[in-house]
Amino acid sequence: MDSFEYRDNKLHCENLPLSEVARQFGTPTYVYSREAIEVAYLAYANALEGRDDMVCFAIKANSNLAVLNILARLGAGFDVVSQGELERVLKAGGKAERVVFSGVSKQSVEIRRALEVGIHCFNIESEAELERIDQVAAQQGKVAPISFRVNPNVDAGTHPYISTGLKENKFGIAIDDALRIYQRAASLKHVKIIGMDCHIGSQLTEIAPFMDAMDKLLTLIDQLQEAGISIEHLDLGGGLGVCYTDEVPPTPGEYIAAVLEKIGDRPLKLIFEPGRSIVANAGVLLTEVEYLKHNESKNFAIVDAAMNDMLRPALYSAYLEIVPLMLREAGSTDAVKHRYDIVGPVCETGDFLGKDRELSLCAGDVLAVCSAGAYGFTMSSNYNTRTRAAEVMVDDNQAYEIRARESFADLIKGEKLLPN
Ligand code: LLP
Repeated sequence: MDSFEYRDNKLHCENLPLSEVARQFGTPTYVYSREAIEVAYLAYANALEGRDDMVCFAIKANSNLAVLNILARLGAGFDVVSQGELERVLKAGGKAERVVFSGVSKQSVEIRRALEVGIHCFNIESEAELERIDQVAAQQGKVAPISFRVNPNVDAGTHPYISTGLKENKFGIAIDDALRIYQRAASLKHVKIIGMDCHIGSQLTEIAPFMDAMDKLLTLIDQLQEAGISIEHLDLGGGLGVCYTDEVPPTPGEYIAAVLEKIGDRPLKLIFEPGRSIVANAGVLLTEVEYLKHNESKNFAIVDAAMNDMLRPALYSAYLEIVPLMLREAGSTDAVKHRYDIVGPVCETGDFLGKDRELSLCAGDVLAVCSAGAYGFTMSSNYNTRTRAAEVMVDDNQAYEIRARESFADLIKGEKLLPN
């Protein structure tokens, strides 16, 4: 988290003390570093320099309009999985022709809208979806550009809930059916085959599973070529991991070098759909300690953020570093450390942000939950009728509110009483 560092015992985001952000905007608040997002995106773009490839940010990781807008300004493409995500991209200044549409179930209305704005490609996940896209395109007198998400049956070696490339997962078409389904697509009038894609899982910390998947896909691309079907682009999905604690995942540069070596001189364009590796370490969640509670066997720090704000620890047992905004001078009376479970106010035992953390804490301290830029706000909810957090972007020494904290009125908007 290079854009987040202590200076004079105060945690900074770029050139702004985070305590200043907490004071100005309150807590809980997500804070993103513009610099960190740009650096992470450019690590991909620079590694592909001189080639006609696309880096399509997977917006499910972080879909705030300001985040999408700074990526669009750098020329990013986008990976979307719903019409809502597509509309966000367009609203944020992204180009439709740099959008790929993923997901196991695209509804007719979504397909229609994507055809109307002219996206780059539909990543199709089943035969039924192929037929649907062909029909909808026919109704509009259009030809839909398509790719099939092929499930290469490789083990990504990651958490079972975020592993997607095995036979038993719901995603993609089985590799053994792919030739037949591509041939079926080639016979349809309102689709045009342009690509092949895969996405084998998320938070991968090794290059090997990506390479295994590529081997299988490249063999399939050769088989298709022999059958007279040529593929213009290979989309390798997202999945590159980040460092949450002590993981040492490959950098985008190392990953892309390995991909380019494997592609060799094949005339294939590449598409990547990174989410986490662009934004995870570009964001923190600020939360204030409300109460300290010392039970016989446990110390609890009850904070004002909860599982509704950050679901990853509860859902995936994810570990996120939790650090204070101000470091206490060693030896000072209030610097004594205890082992705390950091928990929220939600009425669930699963409502924790971290367990057994050695921290010196007082009520009123503000903490930063690190690596929270990906799958943080986007997975948040209103459980327990809690308003969702504010989002702030720091650029150098300025903080910009990029999403206002929700109000109670926002929460009940659309709810109605019965007439009698
Ligand atoms: N492309 C497709 C088709 C995907 O399904 C995903 C993520 C991505 C790209 C982006 O993957 P990334 O680069 O972020 O690994 N909520 C979970 C992660 C779920 C990922 C779902 N698919 C978490 O918080 O760990």
